[in-house]
Amino acid sequence: MNKNISEFEFKVSCADRREKNKHNSFLVLFTGLSGAGKSTLANGLEQVLFKKNINTYVLDGDNVRRGINRNLGFSPEDRSENNRRIGEISKLFIDAGVVVLAAFISPYRKDRAYIKEIVGTNNFVEVFVNTSLKECERRDVKGLYEKARVGEINDFTGVSAPYEAPENPDIELNEFNTISESIEIVYKKIKEKLQLKD
Ligand code: ADX
Repeated sequence: MNKNISEFEFKVSCADRREKNKHNSFLVLFTGLSGAGKSTLANGLEQVLFKKNINTYVLDGDNVRRGINRNLGFSPEDRSENNRRIGEISKLFIDAGVVVLAAFISPYRKDRAYIKEIVGTNNFVEVFVNTSLKECERRDVKGLYEKARVGEINDFTGVSAPYEAPENPDIELNEFNTISESIEIVYKKIKEKLQLKD
């Protein structure tokens, strides 16, 4: 970091914003293969939280890879940079008092560990959406597995690029629960962390 950059002490703090919002702020990272259901779950959980007056924001490929990260591809280096920026963006949202729901493959353990480091251990909830490759490929919602199998897409996670499963996720979901059951599981787990004031 440039040594001429220093931190300004703002008078309205994260704690003030959390107090005003009447809930805690943190990051819920949904990680798993493409097609695992990460965005669907983040979207569903956001609706549940929104109804409870909780300030939320979903970060996913649509609003990140098409905008701030549009210069990044899928090499290991680019994925790491994609993940680092997601961590930094999440950190700002958390400081703003918002519960961030991030849906990214985030295939490398070291990148997820780095996100955790950026936002702080206490502000990080890792949700492993453990839908099998077989099931993701059967769904093939975006038709990308088919393209990856015939070599039209390179470095495709689960086919020609690795996915390193979390060893100790806070929450693990599988394809045998319904979407609403999975959302309920996550909500129950994060409820205490939200520290709802009323
Ligand atoms: S990450 O690996 O850097 O965390 P990210 O979640 O942002 O990935 O993007 C994954 C999405 O990009 C997939 O769901 C899929 O729609 C699309 N995609 C395009 N090319 C690839 C690829 N080679 N590997 C994985 N996903 C890809």
